[in-house]
Amino acid sequence: MIIVSTKNSGSFTGDLLVVLVGQGEKMVVPKEKDSIFYSYLDRPMKLKDFSGKKGETYLVYPEPGLVCSRLLFVGVGEEKKDLETMRVCGGTVAQAITKLKVRHLGISFEFLDIDGAPAGERFTEGFLLGRYQFDRHKKADEDTQTKINKISFFPGSDVALFRQGIKRAECAAKIGIVARDMANEPGNFWTAADFGVFGAVLAQKYKVKTTILGKKECVRHNMGGLLAVNQGSTAEPRMVIVEYRCQNKKAPTLLLVGKGLTFDSGGISLKPGAGMEEMKYDMCGGAAVLAAMLGVAEEQPKHINVIAIVPATDNMPSGNAVKPGDVITCYNGKTVEVINTDAEGRLILADALAYGIETYRPDAVIDLATLTGAVIVGLGHHNTGLLSNDDALTAKVADAGKKCGEPVWRLPLGEEYTKQLKSPVADLKNVGGKDGGTITAAAFLQEFVAETPWVHLDIAGTAWGFTEKSYIPKGPSGTGARTLLELIRSWT
Ligand code: BES
Ligand code: MN
Ligand code: ZN
Repeated sequence: MIIVSTKNSGSFTGDLLVVLVGQGEKMVVPKEKDSIFYSYLDRPMKLKDFSGKKGETYLVYPEPGLVCSRLLFVGVGEEKKDLETMRVCGGTVAQAITKLKVRHLGISFEFLDIDGAPAGERFTEGFLLGRYQFDRHKKADEDTQTKINKISFFPGSDVALFRQGIKRAECAAKIGIVARDMANEPGNFWTAADFGVFGAVLAQKYKVKTTILGKKECVRHNMGGLLAVNQGSTAEPRMVIVEYRCQNKKAPTLLLVGKGLTFDSGGISLKPGAGMEEMKYDMCGGAAVLAAMLGVAEEQPKHINVIAIVPATDNMPSGNAVKPGDVITCYNGKTVEVINTDAEGRLILADALAYGIETYRPDAVIDLATLTGAVIVGLGHHNTGLLSNDDALTAKVADAGKKCGEPVWRLPLGEEYTKQLKSPVADLKNVGGKDGGTITAAAFLQEFVAETPWVHLDIAGTAWGFTEKSYIPKGPSGTGARTLLELIRSWT
């Protein structure tokens, strides 16, 4: 339960009160000698142990009866208006209290002297994301955090606006967490069918429509890409479609497509064994897209229709598996020579993109996929690769990503790259040689979007092992979910 209090934090009687403080000139607390907290901050400040620098924390156990049982001073630094700074501070607090038995938490913005609502929103987002733990498959141990029952905010500014910000943050954090949870489930717990179940549950709980295409329907629709990748599997594929429509008849339609490859062994072009377990994360694009749909379903925006499609399967070797050299036919009729069965993501995305564009005639398409190892070589783990046929859409996505702490970096497309995909036996081959791997993968997808404004996000470097930050855990980051929600909220 989260409460935004109209009282001042001096009245707080819970387990721990977080007091956010700025740095230098912008520091308010220690100058106010009448502040109840002054006495606790004065000495560490004089001794220069605490100066309000970003990320600094200082825990005090005050005399019983004076204030609440614990005070945690947290430095916000000089750029306290920066949204990412506040998000990181939220995560820092989450990390600082992991081992403390805190059930009722207070958080004071009263001494920051800034517009509290946007700061509170980002702080809360960072805090909730920073609390994330995935322990469904193990017993509780010393790392298990105490459950917080209640959080009381002391905004020190407009309470109504602050409340709105907290609500937005709760939704944003929730979808990030949902995406992480899906990704964290191992391949034997999260199959193509589970993507279908997630979609079905969404449609039960909210005003969205879910359609699940099983293997038979995929065959009927000539979805040769998804079927080829699924050929070696003992589990059936799914094409999961979630539709959200607003009342406004003139509203634009955004199509989201996410790679839902629940385990990528490479198929007959088998991957090396070391680290192969990480390929359970090859469904992070699908997770981000469906998590974003959860956000859309909750917020029911009035200005935009959003459709999500997740092509889902694993990629396994077997006597039935697709082989190098095989020629397949995708949904839009294009034939593909499969050179490498490990370049499977583009095959399942090809069907989803072509089917989605033909069926829903969207004004814009965004796909998210852990598509190439090459994007990690190029951009490391700090930027998502963006490739697009549309500058305006690129600007929107880049802006949303920046606001959410999920930066993107654009790479080019062009005929020269498309040419690398020429096949002597089919319309296309599924790999374009070792050079420019991220670009040729996107150039392949481009063959299935035609002229529709489209952005492709290669999240192979950011979906897990993303830049170390207080609110981003070591495993899956949930990247993309919040960026998509931000993009949808601010769509014009
Ligand atoms: N899922 C992988 C891409 C990947 C690799 C994501 C490493 C995260 C970390 C994808 O299906 C793949 O195997 N791509 C190949 C393409 C190649 C065969 C042209 C790759 O990147 O090696
Ligand atoms: Mn692969
Ligand atoms: Zn893959």
